[in-house]
Amino acid sequence: MQLQASKARALSLSLSLSVLKITVLHAFPAPCGADLGHLISKKGKMIKICCIGAGYVGGPTMAVIALKCPLIEVAVVDISAARIAAWNSDQLPIYEPGLDEVVKQCRGKNLFFSTEIEKHVSEADIIFVSVNTPTKTRGLGAGKAADLTYWESAARMIADVSKSNKIVVEKSTVPVRTAEAIEKILTHNSKGIRYQILSNPEFLAEGTAIQDLFNPDRVLIGGRETPEGQKAIKTLRDVYAHWVPEDRIICSNLWSAELSKLAANAFLAQRISSVNAMSALCEATGADVSQVSHAIGKDTRIGPKFLNASVGFGGSCFQKDILNLVYICECNGLNEVANYWKQVIKVNDYQKNRFVNRVVASMFNTISGKKIAILGFAFKKDTGDTRETPGIDVCKGLLGDKAHLSIYDPQVTEDQIQQDLSINKFDWDHPIHLKPMSPTSVRHVNVVWDAYEAAKDAHGLCILTEWDEFRSLDFQRIFDNMQKPAFIFDGRNIVNGNKLRDIGFIVYSIGKPLDPWLKNMPAMA
Ligand code: NAI
Repeated sequence: MQLQASKARALSLSLSLSVLKITVLHAFPAPCGADLGHLISKKGKMIKICCIGAGYVGGPTMAVIALKCPLIEVAVVDISAARIAAWNSDQLPIYEPGLDEVVKQCRGKNLFFSTEIEKHVSEADIIFVSVNTPTKTRGLGAGKAADLTYWESAARMIADVSKSNKIVVEKSTVPVRTAEAIEKILTHNSKGIRYQILSNPEFLAEGTAIQDLFNPDRVLIGGRETPEGQKAIKTLRDVYAHWVPEDRIICSNLWSAELSKLAANAFLAQRISSVNAMSALCEATGADVSQVSHAIGKDTRIGPKFLNASVGFGGSCFQKDILNLVYICECNGLNEVANYWKQVIKVNDYQKNRFVNRVVASMFNTISGKKIAILGFAFKKDTGDTRETPGIDVCKGLLGDKAHLSIYDPQVTEDQIQQDLSINKFDWDHPIHLKPMSPTSVRHVNVVWDAYEAAKDAHGLCILTEWDEFRSLDFQRIFDNMQKPAFIFDGRNIVNGNKLRDIGFIVYSIGKPLDPWLKNMPAMA
């Protein structure tokens, strides 16, 4: 059945490729923008794209461009040799459903992963920059402002090695008006070369990245409102037009594009914090957050998506981008606006603390020396990404109360978990070889490769990621092998609390009416 489905997918992909080739040959528009008109005259010359940064964004986005535009040569470059080696192997550096298939179809044809950064940058017509933009940990704006070190070094390198006009595309999420700074770096070192800077923020969601890239809600391209700027916008627009319907490609000025990315993430995170705030009130009043979400989501002005209560949001972007937004507001003297967005993060932290407190309070106010099973460590299902995962804060909270943890996640390695639990806040967002080393493995943390093994002899079990496989576990078997009373704390509302109670568990599900046991053991956040 699965084989048939994948064959059907492969067939439809190869059909769409052959159609694309025809479209491309006849209708591929001339690149323009930073005066790339020379390409028109050289018939048959491939347009070259180079992407600096082979991460969660650079890798998948460029693979999809290569797949959809067979006449464009795409090189993805990175300073991390290990990452590039992984992109060139059978074990890609990131787990993303559908990614393997896409990469295998074009790698070595018109998609290349390389550490020869300068060569590919100098040959490219369009350069995407998709490098880390971490939160600053020191100096001015520490804890909030975006650290543009990697961006600036990429821009200086582009200026150093370029011998022809270029379109430089901001793919990383950057503070509003970053393009202006980049423009200054490039033009001050330009040697007569002309650059156009575009902002083309990425809206993909990890776990569904390939689906999102194939069928985006929108592609946003911001550029200068000059004839050259508009030409550059058109060049990039024409790349996306190979597969994205024209009406979904939105063009704007540079600052709107840059700010829209921060605004989109702030709105999405705000929705999660809103429903999570509601979940606390549900527990206090006997309401059921799933029923409340269902009822309010039916309002077409609100809509049903992003209304699942959980242990908190994670991922590399939400917190970082909101902090960045807060900093920009403060820099512009907009303190009330800054405080408004800060609250989204505060509620997220509150939700994680509340969960930990609930675990501790339920288990007689002490988890010292008790084994707690942790199911799921990635920040959401279908990704191995653990950046800012709520699992980090929850596990640190439980360890702070002296619990012994046994952690299982289907996609996250032991090394990754140990590193996440020992690294300082914000220190994760750097190229691999520049990350501070984690000292030793964290005490009282055991990482296992099986949910049943994790739960064996445990006093409590916490579900922190909504992996599908957790829904169909044999909970009777788990119960039989746990200490009694056996507790389940469902941080994602994916298991049926009533069925688990019938087995004998004491169950806590976020935002659901509380078991009598839990009511008598209130957890103050
Ligand atoms: P990542 O950490 O997975 O990848 C960044 C890559 O850039 C690393 O492999 C690093 O080695 C490389 N790099 C850094 N400086 C470099 C340089 N000077 N030259 C060559 N390579 C360099 O990060 P990710 O997740 O791909 O994010 C990149 C940007 O995209 C960030 O600004 C992020 O906020 C943004 N973004 C991320 C999304 C996500 O879901 N991960 C979604 C939308 C935007």
